[in-house]
Amino acid sequence: MAMAFGGQGPDTGHRPVLLRETIEALAAARGGLFVDCTVGLGGHSEAILQASSETQVLGIDRDEEALEQARKRLAEFGGRIRLVHADFRELTRVLATAKVDSARGILADLGVSSWQLDSPSRGFSFRHQAPLDMRMDASSGETAAELLGRLSEVDIAKIIFEFGEERRSRRIARLIVERRESGRAVETTEDLARLVERAVGKSKSRRIHPATRTFQALRIAVNRELERLDQFTADAVDALEPDGRLAIISFHSLEDRIIKRTFLKLSGRCQCPPRVPQCTCGTRKAVEILTRRPLVSSEIEIAENPRARSAKLRVARKL
Ligand SMILES: C[S@@+](CC[C@H](N)C(=O)[O-])C[C@H]1O[C@@H](n2cnc3c(N)ncnc32)[C@H](O)[C@@H]1O
Repeated sequence: MAMAFGGQGPDTGHRPVLLRETIEALAAARGGLFVDCTVGLGGHSEAILQASSETQVLGIDRDEEALEQARKRLAEFGGRIRLVHADFRELTRVLATAKVDSARGILADLGVSSWQLDSPSRGFSFRHQAPLDMRMDASSGETAAELLGRLSEVDIAKIIFEFGEERRSRRIARLIVERRESGRAVETTEDLARLVERAVGKSKSRRIHPATRTFQALRIAVNRELERLDQFTADAVDALEPDGRLAIISFHSLEDRIIKRTFLKLSGRCQCPPRVPQCTCGTRKAVEILTRRPLVSSEIEIAENPRARSAKLRVARKL
């Protein structure tokens, strides 16, 4: 049956990436209970709910404002959608509280949404003057400004280098700490953007602002985006019913590497160092990997939504 895929959503500018590929990978047309671990503005959830009148969705997000948007967008589905404010790394607890024994499909579309990036007051972007916050869950944890006020120069440089692949990370960290030592903390998006511009110089590429990499790195650190992703992936597989699908979309090479390795491990690939006489890693064969290589966006999708350029979709089927 031909299916219409809800596109951009209300007036948010956010387009769900790899939408058709994700809905097909999850086999949402079979109906059943699906868990959307990153419901965001509800784009993927809406398409899952449209795929069959027999689907239900439990949607999780750590951002209350996003959940509010999703609640409005998905209201027409009535009791088929339930929304929970939580960190998806608490999946096992969330499912127990919601009295969900197993799911037919689980989706995680990692990172931030373009709507969050573009929200003027959240401090994610150098395009808007705002306090340097960057927390997806504005009700808990340390802001980016607090992190920069607390960490050592070496640790700041490490974050900017590892998560942002910024070559001038050490110089940026030096300027942040010099500023801090002179009694002027880095408190706003503008403070940080100016300082990075000083450290990096004007970008030769007109498309990319010089502070892009540093802002991305800080956002990943503030929200601890790479932590416990492997455990989450294993928990999600445990929560699937046999033949259930787990689909994970990542946007950063470090995230994708964690997902790839965890999928391989869960597919039974031995993790022991080469040449050990006997396997001791206890790897179990829990899934079949359905995407030997990750699915990526078409040129058409990238032209319509440049953020899709770095998206990678990996899918596994529970045995
Ligand atoms: C890329 S957006 C998802 C967009 C969504 N698929 C849609 O179609 O609208 C990622 C969402 O995941 C949420 N998120 C990121 N990390 C999370 C975590 N650890 N736990 C719960 N939600 C998280 C963010 O707040 C954001 O709303």
